[in-house]
Amino acid sequence: MLMKNKKDDQLMEKIVSLCKRRGLIFPGSEIYGGLANTWDYGPVGVELKNNVRAAWWKYFVQERDDIVGLDAAILMHPRTWEASGHVAGFSDPLVDCKKCKKRHRGDKLLEEKLGVDDVAGIKLEDVQPRLMKEKIKCPDCGAVDWTEARKFNLMFKTHQGVTEDSGSLVYLRPETAQGIFVNFKNVLDTTHKKLPFGVAQIGKAFRNEITPGNFTFRTREFEQMEIEYFVKEEDWKKKYDELKKASMDFFTGLGLDPKKLRWRKHAPDELSHYSKETNDIEYRFPWGWGELEGFAYRTDFDLAQHEKFSGAKLRYRDPQTGEEFIPHCIEPSFGLDRTVLTFLVDAYAEEEAKSATGEMETRVVLKLHKDLAPVKVAILPLSKKNELVKVSMKIYDELKPHWMVQHDETQSIGKRYRRQDEIGTPFCVTVDFESLKDKAVTVRDRDTMKQERVKIESLVSYIKEKFEND
Ligand code: GAP
Repeated sequence: MLMKNKKDDQLMEKIVSLCKRRGLIFPGSEIYGGLANTWDYGPVGVELKNNVRAAWWKYFVQERDDIVGLDAAILMHPRTWEASGHVAGFSDPLVDCKKCKKRHRGDKLLEEKLGVDDVAGIKLEDVQPRLMKEKIKCPDCGAVDWTEARKFNLMFKTHQGVTEDSGSLVYLRPETAQGIFVNFKNVLDTTHKKLPFGVAQIGKAFRNEITPGNFTFRTREFEQMEIEYFVKEEDWKKKYDELKKASMDFFTGLGLDPKKLRWRKHAPDELSHYSKETNDIEYRFPWGWGELEGFAYRTDFDLAQHEKFSGAKLRYRDPQTGEEFIPHCIEPSFGLDRTVLTFLVDAYAEEEAKSATGEMETRVVLKLHKDLAPVKVAILPLSKKNELVKVSMKIYDELKPHWMVQHDETQSIGKRYRRQDEIGTPFCVTVDFESLKDKAVTVRDRDTMKQERVKIESLVSYIKEKFEND
């Protein structure tokens, strides 16, 4: 287990503060004092999130022949959640501190001290004795005095329509997966896909988490990027391994440090009710290893349950043999917000570098993959003088149709470079007085800080080439 230290705490504080300062992520409902553990993506953050979403969709849907997309409703028929097992079993062990009455997730308290391997799959009745044996203190008051653990269902309930009786009860979906299972027949009938094939979906999910925290790592409202991949039972292992590799390649292909990524296999008593095998991709966050993607073999559990509860036939007919059967399912399940956070943490760097005036200073830079960078190019006129701004605005207008670009003319050039480094902008284009004569600009590379003089007329092709080749 990786223990948290002061430096790690400071790193997270720096990242949270950078996110606020530069318009990546703001605390939710801030003017009302905030709503705990809710976060809003700002103008820069929404670009980063959209880029992660688009990269995932391109990689898993656009560039593959065997996966199609879907966008199902958040509110689903309540029977869905009875069939899926969430009404009966989607819960965490809740314990109360007898002294201060604050509530906590018992298994997470144990995990923080003992590590995930020691605690995974712990039985409900063992949580409180273990908390007492390990002398785990209440994070709020320091007492070691816990109630028995009891099940707390994580689904948010609400009511549909004008009445609030039990007949109008609906849930906010706790996973996007069920929207795919209930549409299995619709997708099959309209696409005529042959096994194996998958259905991908990106969308909001909601869980009334007992202990949210670590910035956007665990929140009550979040987005998932999920694939339900349908196979013949005998093919599950082969496809499982193939998709496992594709998942890891997705992260490393976008620049995540492979040394900070690992697979962790779930112990048999830790498996979700639907899973026969689960492996998580974990990332080494500043506070320790944490799940980034869940990767489960869900068998035919979900489709079989929905057949039983809905009466609809959710079968596949083998075109060769004519045999009808319920396909088995492999599920790569990613958290979008968690993936964004991981890219932010992984890209954050502090370096000693020369300032515009030649002194050494610490520069903060987000070394994001170019596909993920929220702003691709910043255009910076050296001064606010009309003749320069006229040229820089013309360049800005030319670049806009190609990339998300920014025109920034406020403060010193050094401060503007620093601002762009902090949001990970790969290229800064400086327009100076020489530009008026030589019709050229200086292009500064975020990572090497090298500067090159480039003719304005060939700027678009120069940057295009850089993006394609780097
Ligand atoms: N359909 C399977 C499923 O939902 P999960 O392991 O519970 O599996 C999948 O969740 C992914 O969703 C996680 O790996 C994580 O990235 C993300 N996720 C789950 N709960 C989250 C939360 N409270 N806040 C942010 N992301 C969460």
